[in-house]
Amino acid sequence: MKVKVSRKAHFNAAHRLYRPDWDDQKNDEVFGKCNNPHYHGHNYELVVSVSGEIDKATGFVMDLKVLKDLIREQVEDALDHKNLNLQVPDFKNLNPTAENIAVVIWNRLRPHIAKDKGLEVVLYETPRNFVTYSG
Ligand code: NI
Repeated sequence: MKVKVSRKAHFNAAHRLYRPDWDDQKNDEVFGKCNNPHYHGHNYELVVSVSGEIDKATGFVMDLKVLKDLIREQVEDALDHKNLNLQVPDFKNLNPTAENIAVVIWNRLRPHIAKDKGLEVVLYETPRNFVTYSG
């Protein structure tokens, strides 16, 4: 019997979507307002889920206090109130789209979650736009 447990989190961050190897016209065509050279911010909402068997001794799939602390250390401390392009090394050569941010978050958390558990990251960039990555 597999059960999925989830923890919600939140961070604010600024970004700009562009490719330095494309000219301004091409960047505007592809990325539109998100190519604003002065950056813009989002209120990101995150749902991190861990799935697996319920531990017979504890009754937990994973202690959500442990997951909460992990999200704070690996995600919030690294990304909250940051300019993703300029201040977060993960995006030095990676466009900080919602897709890529979700993958970066998953990669940061995965080594800290038990190998026999599944990990899924859902990242909302706006209340209506969200992406899901589960490895
Ligand atoms: Ni944006």
